[in-house]
Amino acid sequence: MTPSTQPSITKIASPDFTKDLDITQDELLALLDLASDVKRSPEPYRNALAGRSTVLLFEKPSLRTRMTFELAIQQLGGHAILNDGPIGQREPLKDVARNVARWVDGIVVRTFAQKTVDDLARWSSVPVINALSDMWHPCQILADMQTLREHFGSVRGLKLAFVGDGNNVAHSLMLTAARLGMDFALANPPKYDAAASVIAEAREIAARNDSRITLTNSPEAAVAGAHAVYTDVWASMGEEAEAAERREAFADYQVDDDLMSHAGPEAIFMHCLPAKRGEEVTDSVVESARSVVFDQAENRLHAQKALLMMLLGR
Ligand code: CP
Ligand code: NVA
Repeated sequence: MTPSTQPSITKIASPDFTKDLDITQDELLALLDLASDVKRSPEPYRNALAGRSTVLLFEKPSLRTRMTFELAIQQLGGHAILNDGPIGQREPLKDVARNVARWVDGIVVRTFAQKTVDDLARWSSVPVINALSDMWHPCQILADMQTLREHFGSVRGLKLAFVGDGNNVAHSLMLTAARLGMDFALANPPKYDAAASVIAEAREIAARNDSRITLTNSPEAAVAGAHAVYTDVWASMGEEAEAAERREAFADYQVDDDLMSHAGPEAIFMHCLPAKRGEEVTDSVVESARSVVFDQAENRLHAQKALLMMLLGR
């Protein structure tokens, strides 16, 4: 097929995707539709980013995010290069942004501080995509919502329970679940709450979408009636020094078969991966028929293709 036969693509109005709320609710829905379409029929999109280049600036390790961004842009006819290592150490961040933006059409960044993403976006004249920061993991959540839609048909009215740390993944999930009309319950140990600003924002969004945000210290209460149970590592990248302390604090927050039995009868298990089996989840749950973790991983590719086309496409 030629580029002229490619289905039309809604452009994202925001210049960047630094966090979940940079895209509108309508753009999010269009993105999820496009992700399903490009998954079903990739062929019409194979030149969508012909001649476009992106750089991946990664300060932290990655398997899924890095590979799926590289593959996504290549399969859309574009080109991706990797530059890993600390950002803004050899020279100021604003100079990095203004150099890189002269060469490429988009910057995908994985970093420790959200401020690095925001500063890059401020100084870059090309779109900046957040591929994980301490605050958000918005690209992950696009794939997660695609997975939930594939599994349940529609997500409105479903209950998503997150058991574990009130971290970047929990933040992004909470906001996006609320936008899509899902109930969201977070069970975390005391002192490992999600950020108060994110909770407040999610509650406002939930009120407009007829959904509820529940915060609890009880994993059983969070998963009761849930359609999906989600967890993530207890110590995120950058928190390795706290791992022992966190293992103790989170000991009662493992997702095991018993906890899954408290969820709804059709409940699926979700994890962004990598998983620490024996910590936040048992091997038995990851390997069970309820687990959709590899569907989530697969959908990283399709959801990011949709994002790249909507943000970088001509
Ligand atoms: N889920 C996720 O972001 O995986 P990576 O850290 O391997 O990219
Ligand atoms: N919360 C985890 C997610 C990894 C994909 C981290 O930030 O390390």
